[in-house]
Amino acid sequence: MFSAATSIGKETDLAFWVITGISAVLFILIIFFMLYFVYRYHHRRNPSASDIEGNSTLELSFMGISIVLVLAMFFWGWDGYKTMKGAAPAGSLEVKVTGQMWLWTFEYPDGRRLNELVLMKGAPVKLRLFSNDVIHSFYVPAFRIKQDIIPGSEKTVWFTPDAAGSFDLFCAEYCGTNHSSMITRAIVVEEADYNAWLAGKKELGAASKAKPSSKAALGKELYATMSCSACHSIDGSSGIGPTFKGLFGKKERVTTNGKERVVTVDEAYIMKSEHEPTADVVVGFQPVMPPSPLTDEEIGAVIEFIKTLK
Ligand code: CUA
Repeated sequence: MFSAATSIGKETDLAFWVITGISAVLFILIIFFMLYFVYRYHHRRNPSASDIEGNSTLELSFMGISIVLVLAMFFWGWDGYKTMKGAAPAGSLEVKVTGQMWLWTFEYPDGRRLNELVLMKGAPVKLRLFSNDVIHSFYVPAFRIKQDIIPGSEKTVWFTPDAAGSFDLFCAEYCGTNHSSMITRAIVVEEADYNAWLAGKKELGAASKAKPSSKAALGKELYATMSCSACHSIDGSSGIGPTFKGLFGKKERVTTNGKERVVTVDEAYIMKSEHEPTADVVVGFQPVMPPSPLTDEEIGAVIEFIKTLK
């Protein structure tokens, strides 16, 4: 938390501490003179008021010093801001980031999709940020990087991670009931590890493990990593959405186009509910589920997982 894990973050920290330092010195000086004058010019020590004339030299130097200090802070900040908002270096790794209620997806140039951000230490990275629904905010405190994501527009941000480790990555804009579960990790590794990971020879983090042994196992992993668990329990307890336990084959009362009807939960129903979550909403629940970012194959795996939850 205290040391930044990007080069731009180190500049941000330096600027922060210098500005805090200047403020602290001024604070101490102002409080000191304030208390001193209260003491020195108390009516017992200074019974007769005197008419104090202005002192042009003092006043002009105060103004001059303040202007120089404030402008120096402004230009320093401006310089860092320009770097941060400027074009990413050529050859930067490009990752497409999608925020949606309530999950992050990271897409790599080779087509892999993860819910954790894996980066190489020392390699500049450019993030292209999109939202599928509402305003989210991409925030990695250790990187000192925060960028709001607006639906319907593309935002970009770039930085160079310069410390290996695992860093919290979360949404910093309230985006609905499970805003707080929109949290994952940015994993920064050395070049050799990164290349081994790219080549599939090394496991990093939860989302990038080797392929699970069965469809149901893949479904279980997707359930955990794609935030299904935020709304759907697997132990029968009620949540924002219906529990997955005993769901497959169950008869559910749903509302379709404002009319109630009974459906049997089968493959087709679950598949449709993933693509059009508000088409058939189970009675007693709010239509808050966003369309799933999963592929049909992945949804199939989740269905296999649901079938195991008797
Ligand atoms: Cu997304 Cu808060």
